Amino acid sequence: MIDVSGLRRVYAEGGLSREDLTPEPIDLFEKWLKQAIDSGIHDPNGMVVSTVNAEGQPSSRMVLLKNYDRESLVFFTNYGSRKAHELSENPKISILFPWYMLERQVAFQGVAEKLSVVETIKYFRSRPRDSQIGAWTSHQSSKISARAALESKFMELKQKFQNGEVPIPEFWGGFRVKFNTVEFWQGRPSRLHDRFMYTKNS
Ligand SMILES: Cc1cc2nc3c(=O)[nH]c(=O)nc-3n(C[C@H](O)[C@H](O)[C@H](O)COP(=O)(O)O)c2cc1C
Repeated sequence: MIDVSGLRRVYAEGGLSREDLTPEPIDLFEKWLKQAIDSGIHDPNGMVVSTVNAEGQPSSRMVLLKNYDRESLVFFTNYGSRKAHELSENPKISILFPWYMLERQVAFQGVAEKLSVVETIKYFRSRPRDSQIGAWTSHQSSKISARAALESKFMELKQKFQNGEVPIPEFWGGFRVKFNTVEFWQGRPSRLHDRFMYTKNS
């Protein structure tokens, strides 16, 4: 086994103080997102989405942030996936942006709802054609016999949709996550990290 107990580093890239806080958390999030993009890290819009099933068992996976506004974050997925099933039973969700390279994380907690079909169509149309066909190919979270089966299905669908627009699968779409807490974390030396949490007044 690898001895991971000694893996640590000094977080000295920056700090976050009360004066840096914006009235709305989304403005600070946007500033950090921009810095993450400008830093050149891979998938700066990658976020860990955690859901909880009916037995109370949490599960996490990475998805990409595709839109946001003052009060919500949007991602797209397969509505037949495990995460979508879990959200239909329990819409509470947690989202984490793990920006290790910047010694930062931002954690959101909130409630997810399906995006309107109009908004889903708008995003689907903006995707590259192969990604549109890809959405048809995979019944996410279900087991397949072999990768080759997925690839041959993709080729088959490519043939089928070769003329005209690729229709939108009804089992695919977005989730809008309305957040009620947002926590910003900035690593500091000697484990004296900066943490600020915004909580929505209900
Ligand atoms: C960098 C990265 C980005 C991903 N982006 C998405 C995404 O935007 N939407 C999505 O449904 N799955 C995305 N995935 C795949 C998911 O992590 C996951 O495997 C899939 O959605 C099935 O999850 P589930 O079975 O827990 O529902 C991404 C994976 C990685 C590593």
